[in-house]
Amino acid sequence: MEIIRIPRIMREITKNLKNRAKSIGFVPTMGALHDGHLSLIKRAKEENDITVVSIFVNPTQFAEGEDFEKYPRDLETDSEKLKKIGIEYLFYPEAKILYPNGYSTFVNVENISNKLCGKFRPGHFRGVATIVCKLFNIINPNRAYFGQKDYQQTLIIRKMVEDLNFDIEIIVCPTIRESNGLAMSSRNSYLEENEKKAATVIYKALLEGEKLLKSKIKPSEVTLKIQEILRKEPMIKEIQYAGVYDPLTLDELDEKTNKYLIAIAVKIGDTRLIDNMLVELN
Ligand code: PAJ
Repeated sequence: MEIIRIPRIMREITKNLKNRAKSIGFVPTMGALHDGHLSLIKRAKEENDITVVSIFVNPTQFAEGEDFEKYPRDLETDSEKLKKIGIEYLFYPEAKILYPNGYSTFVNVENISNKLCGKFRPGHFRGVATIVCKLFNIINPNRAYFGQKDYQQTLIIRKMVEDLNFDIEIIVCPTIRESNGLAMSSRNSYLEENEKKAATVIYKALLEGEKLLKSKIKPSEVTLKIQEILRKEPMIKEIQYAGVYDPLTLDELDEKTNKYLIAIAVKIGDTRLIDNMLVELN
């Protein structure tokens, strides 16, 4: 595996590969790789000739007072995991190269960026769309892989790709969970054992919501039930949002339909955790 730090070199490499008719699969990450990330990377490897993974803790997607400084960074362990899978390139740029002094261009995907997580993380999706746009321009992959764990992020990236005419196929992969249901996340490393245990209530609330929606209970009632389940867990310090939403507009749903998004964001201690589930009725 080659570690590439310079955008110009990364661009040359993928350009040459594409000229030789090799397909490129790309997985953007912020590192501290866990089995969720690895599932995307394995899928990219299966479906493409060459796989590029990026690790970049993107400063522009962290709001003031968030965990940018303490976000876990461990290049050595991450590289070992990537080598084991057998990927060809790790793109590992420095912040001052991607955002030099005087950097001033940002991508803002309007409307959906202001809902759910966007309400609680000002500027977050502007930072995500900007860095993904830059990485797409540098790597120019055929396919890029994202996790459903960050459902709103996948909607925003798809919209950006459509609106800005990128010729890149976006592939969304299922959420990988611990055996107790907790969605894997680099931020789970912030949790104490008892907090991890408490966090399993999130998946329980999603499953209960799914069950109720499938038994044709009104979404607004399901939202109340989900919130009640979360409120019973004393370790949950704050429920930022929890309920049943339209999977395309992310607006809260009152009336029955056949496609729902159940989405939850809570704080356990200082750790913000999100999870979601799509429910389709036929
Ligand atoms: P990061 O949180 O490192 O996640 C990288 C990718 O892994 C994202 O597409 C995310 O949805 C996916 N992922 C995380 N946990 C997962 C899980 N349990 N199961 C399946 N997939 C999972 O998301 C980001 O980084 C950044 O916003 C990024 C897109 C890299 C832009 O900076």
